[in-house]
Amino acid sequence: MRKFLIAPSILAADFSYLKDLLNKLEKEGVDLIHIDVMDGHFVPNITIGPDFVDFVRKNTKIPLDVHLMIENPEDYIEKFIEKGADWIIIHYEATLHHDFLLKKIKNLGRKNGIAVNPSTPVFFLEEVLKYTDLVLVMGVNPGFSGQKIIYETLEKIEKLSELRKKENLSFKIGFDGGVKLDNATEILKKGCDILMIGSGIFNSPDFIEEIKKFKKLRF
Ligand code: DX5
Ligand code: ZN
Repeated sequence: MRKFLIAPSILAADFSYLKDLLNKLEKEGVDLIHIDVMDGHFVPNITIGPDFVDFVRKNTKIPLDVHLMIENPEDYIEKFIEKGADWIIIHYEATLHHDFLLKKIKNLGRKNGIAVNPSTPVFFLEEVLKYTDLVLVMGVNPGFSGQKIIYETLEKIEKLSELRKKENLSFKIGFDGGVKLDNATEILKKGCDILMIGSGIFNSPDFIEEIKKFKKLRF
């Protein structure tokens, strides 16, 4: 069995007790916190911005992965890094300058990631994989937590995994959207390294118990 990481996607959490929630996540030893930034243009929803990342950073030591579902990501990368992002994930569909932006994130000393919407083929990424730390396969059309997984997207994990092996590369494969206890094993089996999980964790009355159940998955 390969080791895998869990990144709770806190958009699905109850923000009214965020500090307490962050303490609990830290005590449980979660690997990453996934923060969804949406601008109402790239996706039909608006969520949080740099000040929220600042708040989370000041209240936990857990590494933060910031998923930018925004147009013109180049205008905000530095701001999110300044506020404490450890990983910055841009969307393939949101820019023409993948090469430039991924290298920029790396040069600023952070891990980079590139996300692909369900209809974007992974071979579009071929040229940038050598300097990509994470490919985030979207299991839903981005915009909202709590959507149903699009099963066809799992094939992309397999393709990326093969490509990684063939080219001897080391990027991680993440999967985001619709991850639940009953489909996580299948996703991991395909070669996924990091599960981003929103409602699959936070819709439960005891989210720490849910995280423990995910951690126990064997594949
Ligand atoms: C979708 C977001 C996801 C989402 C995950 O646009 O990028 O991170 O919050 O939530 P669930 O796991 O509920 O689909
Ligand atoms: Zn996300």
